[in-house]
Amino acid sequence: MASMAQRDDIAHLDLAALRILHYPDPRLQQPAKTVQTVDAALGALVERMFELMAAARGVGLAAPQVGLPLRVFVACPTGEPADRRAYVNPTLLERDGQMEEEEGCLSVPGVTSHIKRFSRVTLGATDLAGQRFQQSGQGLLARIFQHETDHLDGRLIVDRMGSLARLAHRRALRDLRKQFDENR
Ligand code: NI
Repeated sequence: MASMAQRDDIAHLDLAALRILHYPDPRLQQPAKTVQTVDAALGALVERMFELMAAARGVGLAAPQVGLPLRVFVACPTGEPADRRAYVNPTLLERDGQMEEEEGCLSVPGVTSHIKRFSRVTLGATDLAGQRFQQSGQGLLARIFQHETDHLDGRLIVDRMGSLARLAHRRALRDLRKQFDENR
């Protein structure tokens, strides 16, 4: 039942109409569901996500950011098409060390902030052939893995910012809330 419902959800999507949602859209703040079926429809969705990520010059994009509550994200740390990769049903398996670097999000335009992250993580995920794999990353890749899995749990950098950073960005955040209210 679950897999039928999911297949229908994706198969009838107008992929061209997908756009990157902005804070404070509530769809960015709800936990995503496990992907039941890795099929051609999921592959087509991933291709569209690669396209949207590249057009926005991003290094990662999660399905909830295009309004789909599914546990899948794409990443491309170098910006080179050859380095694009999709992660279905990802889980952080190992985390180690600490770093704090400037981080931004395509769903929170105009806001970057220092965010504390683990400096090395190992991620387990399913690829588009349906095979489970593991990948370890440090630095930018580790940050992407943590930032994107946060999206799948409905968590944004806004939720990870300290109170001082929130204060510093209060105007930008207020403008985003205003834009959201005007566009709905
Ligand atoms: Ni993001």
